[in-house]
Amino acid sequence: MKVSAMNDKAMISIGKLSGRTGLAVSAIRYYEEQGLISSERNAGGQRRFRKSDIRRVSFILIAQKFGYPLNVIRHELSALPQSRTPTKADWTRLSSKIRKTLDQRIEQMQQMRDNLDGCIGCGCLSLQKCKLYNPDDKAAKLGKGPRYLLGNSAKDLED
Ligand code: FES
Repeated sequence: MKVSAMNDKAMISIGKLSGRTGLAVSAIRYYEEQGLISSERNAGGQRRFRKSDIRRVSFILIAQKFGYPLNVIRHELSALPQSRTPTKADWTRLSSKIRKTLDQRIEQMQQMRDNLDGCIGCGCLSLQKCKLYNPDDKAAKLGKGPRYLLGNSAKDLED
C-alpha cells in the first residue's frame, strides 16, 4: 500500500523504528512477515511504519519477555485495528493475563523444585518411587509419563 502525502508525517522508516525500539531491522521484517505489524510503501518504494508501531513493537517485546509466543501475541493484537496502538486499558488487560500465567508457572516450578529435592542424590528415575514421575500415583490420573514434566500441575487434579 502506498503512503498518502497526507499521513506521511505520521510514518517512520524501518531504521527509525529499529532505533526507537532497539529491535534489529531483520527482526522488524520478521514481525512484519508474521503479521504482527505492517508497513506501507512511500513513493520511493521504501517501507514506512506508523509512529504508533513503536508502541506496538514495545508491546510485543514485553509480552515475549514473559514467554508469550508470537501466535498468542498476534491474537492479542488482532483485536486492535492496525492503526490503533495498544492503549493503557489493553496493556492492563494483557498484563493481568500475564500475571495469572506467571503465578501458575511459579506454583508449578515450586512444586517441581520441592519434588526435585527428593531426587537429589537418588537417580533412580523410578516410576514407582520418583515424585517427579508420579507423585503418590495421583498424577497417573492425568495420563501416562512424567505428568509434572509434561506440563500438568497439582491443580489439574482438583479439576
Ligand atoms: S530420581 Fe529417585 S526419587 Fe526421583
